[in-house]
Parts: sequence; C-alpha cells; structure tokens
Amino acid sequence: MKPNFTFSLALFFVGAIIVSLNFNFDKKEISVYAQAPERTLLVKYGEEIFRRENCIECHTLNVKNESEKRISLDGYRGTRSASFIAGLMISPKSFLPGSTMPSFAKLEYNNLNKETLKRISNNSSSHPYNLDTAWDKLNKQADQIQNEINNDGIFEHKKSELTALVAFLQFIPPSTEQIKLNTIENERLQKLADEINELYLNAETKILEIAQDKKNISRGKELFQNQCSVCHGTNGQGEIGPNLLDEHTFHGNEISDLLEVTINGTDKGMPAFKQVFSPEQIGQVIAYLISERGNEYPNAKAPQGKKQ
Ligand code: HEC
Ligand code: HEC
Repeated sequence: MKPNFTFSLALFFVGAIIVSLNFNFDKKEISVYAQAPERTLLVKYGEEIFRRENCIECHTLNVKNESEKRISLDGYRGTRSASFIAGLMISPKSFLPGSTMPSFAKLEYNNLNKETLKRISNNSSSHPYNLDTAWDKLNKQADQIQNEINNDGIFEHKKSELTALVAFLQFIPPSTEQIKLNTIENERLQKLADEINELYLNAETKILEIAQDKKNISRGKELFQNQCSVCHGTNGQGEIGPNLLDEHTFHGNEISDLLEVTINGTDKGMPAFKQVFSPEQIGQVIAYLISERGNEYPNAKAPQGKKQ
C-alpha cells in the first residue's frame, strides 16, 4: 500500500488554522501519561510536539466520558505499529479511509534539535545532566523507530519530530479507569464466548442430525457460497484454503472433524464460525459439504495434507 500524499498539503493548511486558533494546553490533560515513570527522552520529546501541535483540540489523554466529544488516546500504547502511526500522521485518509483528521506531514520536515531537548530535560530531570550524552541517547531511540518503520517497507521515513510523536503515541499507558473499562469489556467478551460454547455443546446432537439430512443441502449451499467460497472456491474445490472435496485433509474428514474445524477454526487461517453462524447453520453448511464430496472440478486445488 502506497499512501497518497497529494492532498496532504491542503489538509496541512486546515491543520495550521486549527492549531493557531487554540493554544491553551490544559496541564491536567497529561496526568495519566505524566504518572508513568519510564518515559524515554524521545517520548518526552514527542509529548512536546503533541503539546505544541495542540492535538488536544480533538483528543484527550484522559479516559473518555459521556460529555467528552474529543477522541480519547488513553491506553493507545500497543494498539498500532510505528509505521501505521507515522503514515496516519502524514496522510490520515490513506490509513483510516474517510478520516477527518488533518495531516501533520510537515513534522517530517522538522529535525530533532538540541534546544528542545535541553528544555525538556531541564524541566524534568533532577540529576546532573550532560546534553551531548542525552542527544546521543535521543538519536539512538529515534534511529530504532526509524528503522522499524523503514523495515516495514510501506514508505520511507525520515528521522524527525514525527519520529518523536510516534514514540509518544506508542507510549501512552492506560489510566486506572481505562484498565477497569478494558477489564469490563474483556469480561463481557469472555461471558459471550462462554455462552456460545455452551450453546454449541448443547446443540451437538442436533447439529449432527442437520448435517446428515439431505433436506438441508440447498440452504447449506447458499451459506457456503456466501461465507466459505472466497477461500475454498465456489463448490469447495479449493482456492486460498484447501480443497474440501478430495480424500486429503489436514484435520480429518469425519463429520465431527468438519464440525470442529468450522465451529472453532484453526490457527492456520481457517476462521471460527461459531460467532457468525447459528448451530443450525453450521449443520446446514456441513450437509452441503458432505453432498459435494468426491465431486471433481476442472479448477480443483491439488491435494494437501494426509490421505484419509
Ligand atoms: C481537527 C481534529 C484533530 C486534530 C487537530 C488531531 N486529530 Fe487525531 N484524530 C482526529 C479524528 C477525527 C480521529 C479519528 C479518525 C478519523 O475519523 O479521522 C483521529 C484519530 C487519531 C488517532 C487514532 C488513530 C487510530 O485509530 O489508531 C491518533 C493516534 C491521533 N488521531 C493522533 C493525533 C495527534 C498526535 C495529533 C496532533 C499532532 C492529532 N491527532 C490531531 C482528529 C484530530
Ligand atoms: C478466510 C479464509 C477462509 C474462509 C472464509 C473459510 N475457510 Fe475453511 N480453511 C481456510 C484455511 C486457510 C484452511 C486450512 C487451515 C489449516 O490448515 O489449519 C481451512 C480449512 C478448512 C477445513 C479443514 C480442511 C482440512 O484439510 O482438514 C474445513 C472443513 C473448512 N475449512 C471449512 C470451511 C467452511 C465450511 C467455511 C465457511 C463456513 C470455511 N471453511 C471458510 C480458510 C478459510
């Protein structure tokens, strides 16, 4: 994917106008982040850019509450790769289609500088301080991110203020409230997963019956063509995914094997369908697969796995 930068200049001016309108940085906004002890020089440098560019016009680092219109970056750490973030800052629309965020492409033209480093270090460090050593450290940290982005090969990244901003965004830890919200969300998802597993466990016999009943073939064919054919071909003869009609399989060709793989998926690219289909629909789709077994199609994929 090559990002399209052509419109970034126009958006840059939009951004510049917005930034010049509002320059009040509320100290409270960085409370979550400021409590984290292990900030590197580059992260602190990036905070400086975040402040200066007035990103909090549209973003908050605090947990999002109902009265808050701005987008929360609380706990943004670990959610996106360095190249995604750098690309987003340069060309938001290329990385988030339909994005309304202005471009900050200009940051890639601003070199990191010792003056800024001196200022942030004076503000935050109590121990004796050597600017040259700190400068080397800062540059090593920036080189690391620059290499990481360039190794992804999506676009060429120049070490700059943008690099520092990426480091900052990749650092923002979750607040206690955000951790609580994440825990609640994880519990909700776990409960949902448990319910679905139970649903399938209770329906085991019924699914087997449906899968063996020829009446269900035509309904299963429809489901197969909507959900499975992208990967397994129109009739199951194989595409990206393996041929499901021949005698070779990775996971076995008993009905129970087909059900297990379709319900729970595998770690090699076969998605789980228990959240997509009802137990009845799983049975229907397998009824269709069984009916197609042994059929040969001219464009069939070569056998894979073990002969049964
Ligand atoms: C004029 C409003 C505006 C400004 C200013 C702004 N953003 Fe955004 N930003 C958005 C919007 C809106 C989104 C959500 C995506 C979208 O719909 O554009 C977003 C999304 C993001 C995301 C999350 C993207 C993701 O889904 O992973 C990050 C990170 C981000 N902005 C960082 C910044 C930084 C850093 C600055 C300052 C340099 C900034 N933004 C300035 C409006 C803005
Ligand atoms: C996103 C692509 C994709 C979709 C969609 C998909 N599959 Fe698969 N499927 C795969 C891949 C890849 C494998 C091989 C996985 C492995 O080796 O573990 C596979 C394996 C299987 C297997 C086991 C084959 C064997 O050799 O043991 C069955 C059965 C199967 N899929 C059925 C289905 C059914 C039924 C659907 C639709 C409800 C479906 N698949 C949808 C990609 C897909």
